Amino acid sequence: MESVRFPEHLLEPPLAGPTGLTLRLATAVDGETLRLNLYAHKTTIAFWRHFKQVLAWQEDGRAVWLLAEQGGRTVGCGELLIYPHGTELANIFVVAAHRGRGVGTTLLIALLRLARYLGETAVEIGVTPDNTRARRLYERLGFGEERTIQLPTGETAVILRRSL
Ligand SMILES: CC(C)(COP(=O)(O)OP(=O)(O)OC[C@H]1O[C@@H](n2cnc3c(N)ncnc32)[C@H](O)[C@@H]1OP(=O)(O)O)[C@@H](O)C(=O)NCCC(=O)NCCS
Repeated sequence: MESVRFPEHLLEPPLAGPTGLTLRLATAVDGETLRLNLYAHKTTIAFWRHFKQVLAWQEDGRAVWLLAEQGGRTVGCGELLIYPHGTELANIFVVAAHRGRGVGTTLLIALLRLARYLGETAVEIGVTPDNTRARRLYERLGFGEERTIQLPTGETAVILRRSL
């Protein structure tokens, strides 16, 4: 099946976004850069399994893997995952040296737009209780607490939800 093509304006950063930041969908050639710069916390095997899976879903219109680039480098990424039971944002990561400049906000705004374009009416995002910075960012963009779940690791995560 052919990958979903989005109108270009949906991939334009908001006007107040960081200077020179561009957004695009990940492709098969981006794996190594993503693994080294943004998913270093995952094992190599787990990363490649995830990468193949999400790119296949993206081809089917069931996922979007969005990259933020600045000066020719990947500085952040985020995923939109559309499951039969609901839609979630996941793995919003910004390279440490580029945090606090609006990259995360830009990625989220664009992912929300893309979700709306795909016909979704609500999205969820999970955050661990200690990640107050990420939670503040999500709440600023209209997410509110929905429920608390227990992760396979035994940790808890708060699920935040936002209508589109
Ligand atoms: C959470 C995360 C994605 C946020 O990304 P980010 O690019 O730093 O996010 P933003 O820059 O858009 O917003 C973060 C802060 O910078 C501030 N900011 C944004 N643009 C700014 C600008 N131009 N000038 C000054 N401050 C700015 C925001 O107001 C916000 O402030 P706050 O933390 O006091 O609320 C990032 O910190 C990260 O990758 N963390 C590690 C991975 C992680 O925890 N991911 C989330 C998993 S749920």
